[in-house]
Amino acid sequence: MAEVVTTKLEVRRAVEAARAAGKSIGFVPTMGALHAGHQTLLQRAAENGFVVLSIFVNPTQFGPSEDFLSYPRNLEADRSLAEQAGAHLIFAPAAEEVYAETHSTWVEEEAMTEGLCGARRPGHFRGVATVCLKFFNIVRPDRAYFGLKDYQQFKVVQRTVRDLDLQLEVIGVATHREADGLAMSSRNAYLSAEARQWALAIPRALQQAREIVERGERSPRTVTDLIRAELVAEGKLKVEYIEIVDAETLELVVPLVGQVLIAVAVYCGDARLIDNVLVECRPEA
Ligand code: PAJ
Repeated sequence: MAEVVTTKLEVRRAVEAARAAGKSIGFVPTMGALHAGHQTLLQRAAENGFVVLSIFVNPTQFGPSEDFLSYPRNLEADRSLAEQAGAHLIFAPAAEEVYAETHSTWVEEEAMTEGLCGARRPGHFRGVATVCLKFFNIVRPDRAYFGLKDYQQFKVVQRTVRDLDLQLEVIGVATHREADGLAMSSRNAYLSAEARQWALAIPRALQQAREIVERGERSPRTVTDLIRAELVAEGKLKVEYIEIVDAETLELVVPLVGQVLIAVAVYCGDARLIDNVLVECRPEA
């Protein structure tokens, strides 16, 4: 039975006990509204003897016009999904437990947050990096698990851990998709049945992009034009960005070379959805 705790002190005690019993600590930070994608992170984290899951809708990573208040919250359902996937401890703090009223210290990564979501959501990655660093200091995990669906987030956290000398490994886990290709996301809950169908253009467009790059296309413009055409074909989706960047540095690559990330952000009805694929530009292709 996974225990749910709400204070830092309880987390520290439980983690210390697990460590004293010789277990390594795996950590999966989330904002709840758990789905099968989160469960794949927990399953991967089972390579550790003790798995901690956090559920915290972090106010500092939402912009003023974003969905902080309406973000789906359901601790009871989350608890049972987390348990099924092998979490031992669930840390579900209130905002007051995480942020002192006078909180005034921030973690800001300055290179990898320039493009993609970083350019469109000012302050977002500052909020993410800060809360992740705080949670890393509370949990002290050996390994933390992040989904590649939020690829920029994964790389930013990995970079801050390296730059600030935290002693943990940041591990990326492949995007878990529905049978029809849609990437699982807590925000899919916002989609009507109709919008859910429109959203399928996202994985379709990314798949087509992957195929032409694998067949040798090296012009990012040609690839992004193809993606845009597929996304807007039905006239229902609004494209926020389509970018192709180096998978390591997140800088634009022209012409395409090495491992690249093809990433999109799209509005589907009221929901902002992101997705990406990693593609290797093999020299002989
Ligand atoms: P959240 O959106 O709840 O996601 C928690 C973790 O689950 C992230 O690492 C995310 O990339 C991963 N994830 C989401 N959908 C996935 C999918 N379909 N397949 C694989 N992994 C998936 O990301 C956050 O919360 C927050 O920004 C957080 C890191 C918790 C900081 O507040």
